[in-house]
Amino acid sequence: MSPVAVVGLGPGAADLCTPEVRRLLSDATDWVGYDTYLDLAVGIVAPGPEQTLHRSDNREEAARARAALDLAADGRDVVVVSSGDPGIFAMAAAVMEQLYEGGWPDVEVTVHPGVSAAQATAARAGAPLGHDFCVVSLSDNLKPWSIIERRLDAAASADFVLALYNPRSRARPDQFLRALEVIAAHRGDETPVVLGRDVGRPDESVRILTLRQLRQADEAEQVDMRTTVIVGSSTTRLLRDGAYTPRSYPA
Ligand SMILES: C[S@@+](CC[C@H](N)C(=O)[O-])C[C@H]1O[C@@H](n2cnc3c(N)ncnc32)[C@H](O)[C@@H]1O
Repeated sequence: MSPVAVVGLGPGAADLCTPEVRRLLSDATDWVGYDTYLDLAVGIVAPGPEQTLHRSDNREEAARARAALDLAADGRDVVVVSSGDPGIFAMAAAVMEQLYEGGWPDVEVTVHPGVSAAQATAARAGAPLGHDFCVVSLSDNLKPWSIIERRLDAAASADFVLALYNPRSRARPDQFLRALEVIAAHRGDETPVVLGRDVGRPDESVRILTLRQLRQADEAEQVDMRTTVIVGSSTTRLLRDGAYTPRSYPA
């Protein structure tokens, strides 16, 4: 069976990429991925002259997955690269979707975890994910905005800590404030919020605010697609330089 290994690089720092993923990158003949993530991979494991990099645009997930499976069917040893964890809003599901559609009987797909942006951001801030939490992508590229609002409302009303990916883009600058409005219907103004931007990369910044502060336009405008936003639950507490959510829940 020819292999396709779908790997997660972690948030960017070489130290946060698992030894297993580094080994797979070193051994593969072909690396397949979104341009930006292949650059990230090159910063972690320098590719050798015999290794081929197949770069593609961000929105071409299905075509990229098929290209990786085709390469493996031709006898190549392929890695498909994602940032963070490959199973979280990333390429593992895209590859599985193609397998589900059918074809590639001689290709074996394996998935190799990485440190996700929510984990990396949380760790920098202390322990805001210490109890039950939900991860929601605010991108409406692959699902309607009405579903996003419904999920935010349900998760916030159930008092989950929320980790928000893809929070705010140039194409949808105002939906982020609307998302915070939906959450704020179930949360106090002083709820701790963690903003992790470029975590594990040279320009890393981690900021702790309150929900009230983040809902100010000048703060919200600083959030972008390189940021992960963690909104605490009713039990999340601010620390001197961070936030934590206790393990136990009040009865
Ligand atoms: C398509 S999702 C990919 C998530 C990735 N598979 C993971 O597990 O981290 C992209 C979003 O992840 C978040 N993200 C990825 N890398 C990050 C980093 N180094 N620092 C902060 N947030 C990051 C941002 O919210 C970004 O918009």
